[in-house]
Amino acid sequence: MYLETLRLINFKNYQNIEFKFNEEINCLVGENGVGKTNVLDAIYYLSLAKSSFNTSDNQIIRHGESHFSILGKFQKDDKFFDVKCKSAPNNKKSISINDKEYERIRDHIGSFPVVLISPNDTDIIRGIGENRRKFVDGVIAQIDRDYLNNLLQYNHALKQRNSLLKHTENISQLDHDLIETFDQSLLNTGKQIHAFRRKFIDRFLPVLQRLYSDISDHKEIIEIHYRSDMEDADFEKLLKETLHKDILLNRTSTGIHRDDYLIKIDGYPMKKFASQGQQKSLIVSLKIAQFEIMREESGFKPILLMDDVFDKLDDHRIAKIMNLVAGHTFGQIFVTDARPERTLSIFESIDSGINIYQIHEGKTELLSS
Ligand SMILES: Nc1ncnc2c1ncn2[C@@H]1O[C@H](COP(=O)(O)OP(=O)(O)O)[C@@H](O)[C@H]1O
Ligand SMILES: [Mg+2]
Repeated sequence: MYLETLRLINFKNYQNIEFKFNEEINCLVGENGVGKTNVLDAIYYLSLAKSSFNTSDNQIIRHGESHFSILGKFQKDDKFFDVKCKSAPNNKKSISINDKEYERIRDHIGSFPVVLISPNDTDIIRGIGENRRKFVDGVIAQIDRDYLNNLLQYNHALKQRNSLLKHTENISQLDHDLIETFDQSLLNTGKQIHAFRRKFIDRFLPVLQRLYSDISDHKEIIEIHYRSDMEDADFEKLLKETLHKDILLNRTSTGIHRDDYLIKIDGYPMKKFASQGQQKSLIVSLKIAQFEIMREESGFKPILLMDDVFDKLDDHRIAKIMNLVAGHTFGQIFVTDARPERTLSIFESIDSGINIYQIHEGKTELLSS
């Protein structure tokens, strides 16, 4: 699978631009702020129907304009697919494939998978539990539709339950039938989500450990410990036990929405003890592990988007990563770098087709191919 052409209209800093990509490595170079990351974000959007920055669609529309469109032509199994994402006047968006609009946008997710490695990914290590849950959820959702449905249902029930808690002063006022309905919904979907996550981590961890060990010359051992209120617990009982507290707090204080994944390096929490280089190596390993699992599941190679990956890494680790990436296990790759000469020297020794695009003032020029 690969993206052959990309056209952006009123998308962030681009008024109207078209790219033609090759099937292997595409590098976007140019000074800070020219719009390299924006191109990767547009490709991410085509795949996942949202920006990687968690921004609203309004922020994506070019300043002073009223709508945006992203058009991509993908090739998959020798067939072409035109994917079009655009904002509509009512603040909604529409996504179509070969001019047929999806009724439910979530049905598109997973059809053209991407894996993004970005500087913000250090949040997965350093940030709050939500960042780690988002990462894991994002991977499972791209390989399993049931998971996303369960998650959406869980979050919906959670929202309704919290709203009921907010409008309840004390237990005597509580609408017991209603809370029972929400609890059953949380229970059904929560159990499945928990099982999915547990199974996923068991499968993911050995792949991650192998990759990290490769990048770090077998120096450090990585572990991930899945932490959940639901581990060895009766969730129904837990919900009942915390009900008084939940009414006081106006929110549901137990459940899989509080799960976390504790990452350790040589036995110590990565969050506190890892160097920047180790963190970056872990991020790359996490994402390549994601890539491997998605490829195993779907049978084809996701598009790999590498945003400013080379920063803060020493030449040795860059060489290790590029060797991993250049092995023929990968499909189409997009790389951004503010230092074109570094990109050129990294790719010099790699025997793959490479296009280098220079971006400047909302326009692009193909430097070499
Ligand atoms: N909605 C928008 N309208 C116009 N310009 C935007 C919008 N969103 C972001 N930009 C511009 O995009 C630029 C950042 O692009 P980015 O892709 O992050 O650059 P880089 O090449 O450093 O990766 C900034 O100059 C910013 O002002
Ligand atoms: Mg950038």
